[in-house]
Parts: sequence; structure tokens; C-alpha cells
Amino acid sequence: MSRADLDEFVEQVRAQSDLVQVVSSYVALKRKGGRYWGCCPFHQEKTASFSVVPDKGFFYCFGCHAGGNVFKFISLMENVSYFDAIKLQAEKLGIPVPQRRQSPEEQKREQKRKDLRKVNEMAKDFFHNCLTMTRYGEQGKAYLAGRGITSETIEEFQLGFAPNAWDKLCSAFRKRGVRQEYLLAAGLASERQQGEGIYDRFRNRVIIPIADERGRVVAFGGRVLDDGMPKYLNSPETELFNKRRLLFGLDRAHRAIQQEGYAIVVEGYMDAISVFGAGVQNVVASLGTAFTPEHTKLLMRYARRIYFCYDSDDAGQNATIRALAVVRNSGAEVHVIVVPDGKDPDEFIRKHGKEAFQELVKQALPLVEYRLRYVLSHVRYDTLEGKVRALREMLPVLSGIRDGAELGEYRKRLAQTLMLDEGIIMDELRRYARNPLPEEPAAAGKQNFRAAAKKQDNALLRAGRIVLRTIWQDPGILAHVQAVLPDGFPSEVQQEILTYLANCIEKGESLNDIHAVESLGEAASTELSQALVEDSGEQEASVVYEDAIRILRKAYLNSLYMRHSRQSEEYLAAGDPAYRESLREANRIKKEMDEL
Ligand code: CTP
Ligand code: MN
Repeated sequence: MSRADLDEFVEQVRAQSDLVQVVSSYVALKRKGGRYWGCCPFHQEKTASFSVVPDKGFFYCFGCHAGGNVFKFISLMENVSYFDAIKLQAEKLGIPVPQRRQSPEEQKREQKRKDLRKVNEMAKDFFHNCLTMTRYGEQGKAYLAGRGITSETIEEFQLGFAPNAWDKLCSAFRKRGVRQEYLLAAGLASERQQGEGIYDRFRNRVIIPIADERGRVVAFGGRVLDDGMPKYLNSPETELFNKRRLLFGLDRAHRAIQQEGYAIVVEGYMDAISVFGAGVQNVVASLGTAFTPEHTKLLMRYARRIYFCYDSDDAGQNATIRALAVVRNSGAEVHVIVVPDGKDPDEFIRKHGKEAFQELVKQALPLVEYRLRYVLSHVRYDTLEGKVRALREMLPVLSGIRDGAELGEYRKRLAQTLMLDEGIIMDELRRYARNPLPEEPAAAGKQNFRAAAKKQDNALLRAGRIVLRTIWQDPGILAHVQAVLPDGFPSEVQQEILTYLANCIEKGESLNDIHAVESLGEAASTELSQALVEDSGEQEASVVYEDAIRILRKAYLNSLYMRHSRQSEEYLAAGDPAYRESLREANRIKKEMDEL
């Protein structure tokens, strides 16, 4: 497929896609004037700050700043790439997707991945047969039985056993004609340090096949039968296996997650197997690694609610706190299941059964509640310093609460517990909203200065957006913008957009959202969405534009003035008479600024 064919295909899908219709299938929209409003699907909110402007082809959320065109919307909603969103939409509209011809390298890579999958599949069968059908497996079976894992669960998860020998798998696979390099690439074998050849990576361990979302085996975990070290040995990361993007059990759990409306995340695959085996099927495990934003996205394809159920020891609690920080701004609704007295979910459900576990799920704490309890039990808040620290720790969590009543509730509780005035908490929250970075208590003057600088930046950003919007609507105005603002915009992101627009206009291309979103970086494309979706209010467009240009021109002149006056000072210090010329220029600029 050539680039021209691709462009034509994308253009065709775009032309037939109705942004409002697509968004409406996910979000209830209300029309107000030329635009539509609804509650943003990308973060939790009760009042509508999500806006769609159909004639410009863009959406933008004034709350969480998600924005873009129809394909961006689909890609965010469905958690797929931009191009996959185009394909999804094409399929919905019945437009045939042109087939891409693969380059020889791509074909080779694809073949390699296929071969690796095949080897993994064979290895899974090999380990499973060892466990269930050979005498080597006896010890493995005894171990699993001791942990209460039934033969049904062994079948369900295709658990296996790696014999206590150096080359059982390698020699079996050699006989079947599998090349060494594949066993190495799949992480099933290692090269001997001394001498030639390879040896089995997994030995004398219970084997847990690790599958991707579609149920294809991509790696293995092995657990020792006793207290040996390391307790768990996993496959190394390979072309197929990336821990950051994989959740153990998702291939089995996703239907239940969708049905129940939430996913339970546990720390270890043994926990996941045990909980699933007990009949709670919406459970997944992260693989000996921290919970990642990729994991969040994976789960949110199926449900918006995530329940963390980590071990109740210190390590588990700390992992919970880190996980909560990762998911905080994802739009997921997060709860924490607290497992009592030092147990992990596996031990708990084995000892107390499914119903008791489900009772724990019912009593799970909402993220903020859990966070609050954690802070109050870990920070000594009987001193002023401690109170401040506790409050600071809660600020990011509190500021994530969209619901006013709920926020008020927590504010009150925090005030009562810490014995602080509620007004102080409100002030701190407002300060945090302006400047989320933790800051040292600074001199008041410095703070005022910073606030003023920030206000100025915001005014320039707003003005930049108005100018960009005007150019988009009326490309003829570009020449005026370039003449009045020779340095362009002070904001780098807006400057990227301006350069892009100027390029298109110079080449005589008409401005279109697809081309823009594809050509601009992520930040610039979101900024453009915001520029196009923002409302100028009741004022006349030309007045709004004039005001915006004046603000930007003033900023430009100001930087020019600073440059010249600094220059004249340098000349003067060096005894160079050229200082007069610089000074004259600086004064001329000052005059123009005053007249603006
Ligand atoms: N883990 C690992 N390597 C280790 C220890 C742990 O990869 N040496 C990972 C495993 O995925 C494990 C998870 O971290 O499942 C949780 O570790 P831990 O709580 O120690 O194990 P449990 O799941 O409780 O294992 P078991 O019940 O078998 O003791
Ligand atoms: Mn355990």
C-alpha cells in the first residue's frame, strides 16, 4: 500500500466519521450553541467539562486536558494506537482496510515471533506432561496438593513441572528438531559457561505458564519446592515478554472483570491462581514488578474499577501506596482490599474460604480512605511539623477528588484528626492546585512574584490559543501574525503549532485535523485541540483577536527591550560608544510598549 493509498483511506474514514455520533455512543452529550457538553469519560467528574465542537472536528476536556480528533477519542476510549483506532472506525463503517505489504525485515521478525510462540507452546506441554504423566512430576504434584491446588486448577492454568536434571527439556527438544537458538531466545535454556552447548533454565521447580491477554504463552515462572533460593525464577524478558505490559491471568479473568465491573490485583501469581481456583475469577497478578500505567490501561479496557489486594506486610503496604500513586490520575475508581493479620490473599482464601474473601472485597476501602489511614498510622502528627507532613502527603490525594461533598467530608476529618483549622487545609489545597511541586516555605515576596509570573504565563497562553484559532479559521491572517510577532509565541508547544500551520499555508494545503494530529507531537496536538475548542465568549472575534495580539506583542517588545538595555549596559561597561545606539533603540521600544 502506498502512502497515497493510505492517505486516501484515512481521508475516506474521516469524511464518513461523525465525531458527535462517535462520542455519543460513549458519553451523554447536551447541545449548547455550536458545541456539545458531557461528563468526561477520561476522568471522574460530576459536572460536564468535556466539550465537542463538531464543525472543527475536535473534543477537549477542560478538566483533565484530554483532547484531539475523532480517532484520538477512539484510541483513548478503546486503549488502542491511533492507527488502530482508524482501522476500528473503518471496520464499523464498512470501509475496507487496505492491506499493508510487509518489508522483508518485518516478515522475518514476524516469523521469529511465531517460532518463539511455537516453542513456548511446546514447552508448556512438555512441563505439563512432566507434572501430570511422568514419575518426575510426583514431587511437584505433592507440593501443589500441599498448597490446596486441585487437579482442576492444574488443568485450568496448565501448571507443570521441570524435572531435576540439566538437560531434559533441551534434549527432548533437540530430538524434535528445535534449534538451540530458539531455546535460548525463548529463555528456556542458557549457554554453558564451560564447554559447548546449552542447559535447561528451569530445574526442579513447579512451572507456571505466563500467557498474554490473548492466552498465548510468552514466559514461565518456576517455584522451588522447598525454602531454596531464589523462591521464584521467571523467564527473562524476551521479544514476547514484557513485565510492564503483562498481567498474569488476564486471559482468563477478563470476562469476569467485565461482568463484575472491577478487577482484583494481587502481588503474586500463586495468589491469583489460588483466588481464581476458589471461584473468584476477576483476579490478575503483576509479575514481581511494580504496577505500571500500562497495567492500568490493560485493565481499564475491561472495567473502570480496580481493587488492589496486596500482602498485608510492610512490603505489600508500600507496594500498595506506590500502585495508588500510579493509578491516581488514570480515571480508574480505586479501592484497597485489606487482608487481616499478616496474610496474603492465597493464605486467607485457603483458610477462610470464598465467602469470607468476598466479604473483604465488600469492605474494601476507597483510595482516599486507605491513603488517609496509612498517613495517620505512619506519620506522628502530634507536633506541628508532623501535622504539616501528614497534610502534605494527603494533598495530591485530596486534590484528585472531583466530588465537592466528598472532598468536604475528608477535609473535615483531616482537620479534626490533625487538630488543624479547616481553612488552613483549604489554603494548602489551593496552593497545591496552583503549584503541585512540594515547595520549601518561601518568603512571601518570592511567592507573590511567582504567582504573578504564573498569571502572566497563563495570559500569554490564552492569547496564543486565540491567535492559533483565528489562523485556523482564517489562514489569511498568518502574514499579520508573522509581521507583528517576529519571534513567534513564547510557548514552545504553541510555536510548534504555529510553525506547522505556516508550513501548510505556505504549501497551499488546506488545514485538516487528521494531518495536524499526525504531524504534531502529543503535547502540541492536545494544545491545538484546546485552542480550537475553547470559546471566545460573546465578544466579537476580531476584538478578541486584537486583544490577544496586543498581549503577545507587548511580551515580545518587553523581551526586545530587555535585550537592548542589557546590551547598552555591556557597551557602557566596556567603554564602547555604541551604547548610545542601543539605549536609543531600547527607549524607542519602551515608547511603543507604552502606547500599546
Ligand atoms: N517474586 C519473584 N521473585 C522472588 C520473590 C517474589 O519474582 N524471589 C514475585 C513473584 O511473582 C511472587 C511475587 O513476587 O509471586 C510475590 O512474592 P511473595 O509474596 O514472596 O510470594 P508469594 O506469592 O507469597 O509466594 P508463595 O506463596 O509461593 O510463598
Ligand atoms: Mn504466599
